[in-house]
Amino acid sequence: MSQEPSTTSQPGPSEQLTVVAIDGPAGSGKSTVARLLAERVGLPYLDTGAMYRAVTFACIAAGIDPADADEATEVAREMDLRMDPDGTVMVNLVDATTQIRGPAVTRAVSSVAAHPGVRTELVSRQREWARRRGGGVLEGRDIGTVVFPDATLVVYLTASAEVRAARRAGEVTDLDYDTVAADIARRDAFDQSRDADPLRRADGALEVDTTYLTIDEVLDVLQRRLDGARSGPDR
Ligand code: DC
Repeated sequence: MSQEPSTTSQPGPSEQLTVVAIDGPAGSGKSTVARLLAERVGLPYLDTGAMYRAVTFACIAAGIDPADADEATEVAREMDLRMDPDGTVMVNLVDATTQIRGPAVTRAVSSVAAHPGVRTELVSRQREWARRRGGGVLEGRDIGTVVFPDATLVVYLTASAEVRAARRAGEVTDLDYDTVAADIARRDAFDQSRDADPLRRADGALEVDTTYLTIDEVLDVLQRRLDGARSGPDR
């Protein structure tokens, strides 16, 4: 099977949508900030990392090597994925909510996310998701660079490596800090150096270093910027 370019057609008239794009490395606060911002401003929330995890889960469940680009792309295209607002993730009618966060999926997900065919499929599903809802808060690694470069607000969250590792260690109770720190460093390096849509700050993105900020402080900054962008002359 030939490899497709990782970017599908341009997103289209997203000026009619209210889209907040939030990217950043693991542990930068993306998920918490995106979920709470979505609640505050009344937009739906999409965790796109969970979609890459869902493809990885589906590969493992089908006995397919996640490193095989063609097979993983086929799995992504065929995958029946349901992501409920309460966080439940159903993959091919199986509740995978817990397993997509487990060590087997976490170990393999970066290699699945590096396949251009997988990315093309998921990017198209993410655009469709937002279009059907009139917009949303989407978080991931390529939302501001690829999925919605003309989003209403494009945000890049960062935090020091130590703080990011400590946050993740607090979430995954069965792993110690050193293991989590090593895993985050490995995944960051992989996500930033892959050929297909590597993690990087989009041009013009609002960069927020969350190391010394509370969640409410981050939310206040983003809400102010979103309100400004929504009421600005162009929108
Ligand atoms: O945010 P997370 O840790 O659940 O993301 C899982 C993996 O998916 C991570 O290695 C980066 C990748 N990912 C991506 O490449 N593009 C996205 N839009 C979201 C996640």
